[in-house]
Amino acid sequence: MSRPKIFVTRRIPEIGLHRLRESCEVDVWEDALPPSHANVMERTRDCVGLLSLLSDRIDVALLDACPALRVVANYAVGFDNIDVSACTERGIAVGNTPGVLTEATADLAFCLLIAAARSLGAAERSVRAGEWRTWEPRGFVGRDLTGATLGVIGMGRIGSALARRCHAGWGMRVLYAGPRAKPDVDTALGAQHVPLPQLLGECDFLSLHAPLTTATEHVIDARALALMKPSAVLVNTARGRLVDQTALHEALASGRLFAAGLDVTDPEPLSPDHPLLTLRNCIVVPHVGSATVGARDAMAEIAADNILRGISGEPLRHAVGT
Ligand code: DGY
Repeated sequence: MSRPKIFVTRRIPEIGLHRLRESCEVDVWEDALPPSHANVMERTRDCVGLLSLLSDRIDVALLDACPALRVVANYAVGFDNIDVSACTERGIAVGNTPGVLTEATADLAFCLLIAAARSLGAAERSVRAGEWRTWEPRGFVGRDLTGATLGVIGMGRIGSALARRCHAGWGMRVLYAGPRAKPDVDTALGAQHVPLPQLLGECDFLSLHAPLTTATEHVIDARALALMKPSAVLVNTARGRLVDQTALHEALASGRLFAAGLDVTDPEPLSPDHPLLTLRNCIVVPHVGSATVGARDAMAEIAADNILRGISGEPLRHAVGT
């Protein structure tokens, strides 16, 4: 009997590929750079399963070109790259990988928060450039973390893991904005659900953890930035399009905002001559929030399980849109 065909759009950790290979014919895109939309369409044409990355656009055109497809398993918790309702209409299951990358991503958010607050990017570059002449009483003076107010937009798993670090370790007061209050988070962290304008006006550190939707796109725009304290720091480890980057550049360049730490940008990758990269008060890393061995292995296992369950018509380990 022929084995079910699966296309995997990049080499993921072996633990996931091995699980798939036990029962499927697995075609892996081996290039370091992502396949084009046309490449994905071509290689998935006769597949029942597609293991995609956040850089792959899974849209109606692709779904229509792949009539045998039964499951799309995203190797990510976010799934804004997938037209989930088009999948659902066609009876194609969609899976993601929540939970296992929570702590790694919260660690990176905290890392960016400190790095931006203490100008680590610029300070490190100055040492490499031979600019370290003496101990500077006024050099690289940053922001204090202890007792500050953390604002979180999107108090889900990752937002609350960051809030836990900031509250337990640095005694921060925690405010959050979003569609619903979370009584468990309120109790555990003394956190408060507040309207967005209040959050923006009161926080010293603002960290974004909301999914990208039409409601959250450019939630941080010029108006939002104007409400923030000039001493505040913005951290984004969610999706680049939550932030209007032109407005962010203006706020950082004019001193309207103290600093930003970005793991995600719009677009990705950011071109090396992008204006944000000329700023001393902006640190940018290449979307590495979940980049730990444990998180990436666990993501690979879940994505593989989602494929295997999807092709045999079982409920996915983590399904979206159903
Ligand atoms: C996700 O999972 O959505 C992250 O952005 C990448 O791990």
